[in-house]
Amino acid sequence: KISPSILSADFSKLGEEVLALEKAGADYIHIDVMDGHFVPNLTIGPGVIKSIRPYTNKIFDVHLMINPVMNILPSFIEAGSDIITIHHEISDNVFDCINLIKKNNLKAGISIKPKTEAKEIIPYLELIDLILVMTVEPGFGGQKFLSNQLKKIMDIKDLISNRNIELEVDGGINYNTSKQVIEAGANVLVSGSTIFSSKNYNEAISKLRGND
Ligand code: DX5
Ligand code: ZN
Repeated sequence: KISPSILSADFSKLGEEVLALEKAGADYIHIDVMDGHFVPNLTIGPGVIKSIRPYTNKIFDVHLMINPVMNILPSFIEAGSDIITIHHEISDNVFDCINLIKKNNLKAGISIKPKTEAKEIIPYLELIDLILVMTVEPGFGGQKFLSNQLKKIMDIKDLISNRNIELEVDGGINYNTSKQVIEAGANVLVSGSTIFSSKNYNEAISKLRGND
């Protein structure tokens, strides 16, 4: 599955961009929310998600790079998110956050930063629907893929074993690194700059899936 990140989209016409991604065959729409505290960048809030919601029925794969996040979770739930992914590294009680997301019938994801080890996700395995492995230091699009994360992806694939948990990767995913992460076991690929720098979103998405 391909989950284009709108971080690299034209923010002056996000609704049209989201519609274009749907037409181009995106499986999810990846929405990178940054608070300027957990990561050194500030992007969009729940109000923007609310305003683009009517443009598509595609799954909103919302990646919250926010700390603390518990108190603002309800706003993202109400805004129309379908999957909400929070970070293992936050100061809130992660289990309370997961429970709030699931109580509202949304899918819950946990993301880990490059320096966080695979074993840290073990306590969440019975509770979550998705694991997001950051293959760049979170904060900005267009960064270089960290190939030292490939081993972690394989290890997490093993930890997931036969559970119904999606393994998503995010950061530096282009036509070359997409092949490596698929090989390592990822089944959802987030990609931003590669898609939005291409002339044809449909072609870019198809190539990222491995259909050259
Ligand atoms: C980092 C962001 C980026 C973005 C993808 O915090 O999460 O990884 O989604 O950006 P590209 O595909 O341009 O690396
Ligand atoms: Zn992301």
